[in-house]
Order: sequence, then C-alpha cells, then structure tokens
Amino acid sequence: MHSAYVFDAYGTLFDVHAAVRRHADAVGPDAAQLSDVWRTKQLEFTWTRTMMGRYVDFWDLTKQALDYAFEKFPNANKSSKNQLLDAYWELDCFAEVPAVLRALKEADVRTGILSNGSSGMLEAAVKSAGITDLVDNVISVDRINIFKAMPQVYQMVVDDFRLYPDAVSFQSSNRWDVAAAANFGFRAVWCNRGNQPDEYKDMSPELVLADLNGLIGADGKPV
Ligand code: LAC
Repeated sequence: MHSAYVFDAYGTLFDVHAAVRRHADAVGPDAAQLSDVWRTKQLEFTWTRTMMGRYVDFWDLTKQALDYAFEKFPNANKSSKNQLLDAYWELDCFAEVPAVLRALKEADVRTGILSNGSSGMLEAAVKSAGITDLVDNVISVDRINIFKAMPQVYQMVVDDFRLYPDAVSFQSSNRWDVAAAANFGFRAVWCNRGNQPDEYKDMSPELVLADLNGLIGADGKPV
C-alpha cells in the first residue's frame, strides 16, 4: 500500500472522447477521427509550448486544438463546436472510478489528481463526475505554468503531500505521463485502457492495469 494515490485526469479518470461521442450525430461521420486529432493536437501543443517557455492554459489549447481538428475535417459540422467545448466541462468519468476512489478513502490513504487541466476545468469535471468528496487534493499545472512531463509538475505532489516520491502511486493512461512519473521516482501505474503497445521501455511502469479496478486487491485493500 502507498501513502497517496494520485491520478492523471484526462483519459485516466475522465473520458476525453465522451464529448464527441455525446454529440457524434451533430458532428457527422468524421466524429471519431476528429476526436482523435483534437486530443493529439491538444497534447502536442502542451509539449511544444513547454519547450518554448510559452505557457497558455489548457482550456485555450483545447480550443485551439479543436479549431485545428475542424479545419482538418472540413465535412464535420462546425455548428457543433460550442456543444463539444461545453461537454468538456462535464465529461463522464470511467465507470469504475467512484468505487475505486471510495475503496482508497476507506483504506485511509490520501487521493489526488495531478493534471495539465486548468483549475477551473478540473473543478468542473470533478464536480460533474460526483467525486468531489473522494479526492483530497486537485493539483493543476496552472500553479506553475509548465505542462507535464517536466519534473517540476510531479514535484508539486511531493511538496503538497509531504511525502517521498516512492510513497506515491501515480496512475495514468497516458504512457508518456507514466514514463515521466517513473522517471520522477513515483510508483508508476499504467492504466492501459486501450491495450496499446508499450513505449519508453527504459522508463517502465511498475504495474500495468486494464482499468483502475486493479488498484484494489481481492481483500478490498489498495495494491
Ligand atoms: C492530464 C492530461 C495529460 O490530465 O491528460 O494531465
């Protein structure tokens, strides 16, 4: 058992493709591809801007990435843009998330979120998923204006929780985020929801799970 279990937000707790899925009919036949490009560009913008030292918050980058995705798929229905953006503020969480967080709380370990998302986005997503009482600390990169995978981002967790890195179990579905967490010294857990091939083989996860249920053992205790 670890002292704190900290989660990435988008893709790990919250389903980033839920926004497009919810409005797939309005977007048209390119909806799934548009969603993929939207997410890919959103992340790429965080990396390039961090390298350039030109921070813009995640909400702005999310909008810029969606503009790009609509230009890439001209047949997608642009009038759905605002609906897609609004949906981002009330994303679905993955089905197992509330029960897993509840089991962690019952085991008396601390829980947190560490995300590129802006504080406002995270607050809204946590509230709409109904998990406010199950998360002790929501940490946004907007406190330091640098995105993952910079070590300063992961440092905020150990500073806030006053723990050594190896007392923290960090869960992410993003393999690059898992690599950064392992590099920082956390127990890195890859929630490989899409059964993706491994990457960053010199920065391996200690645990690979198909979903977050695997964090809770058969005895109901966190692993
Ligand atoms: C986050 C992105 C990486 O929540 O999904 O930080």
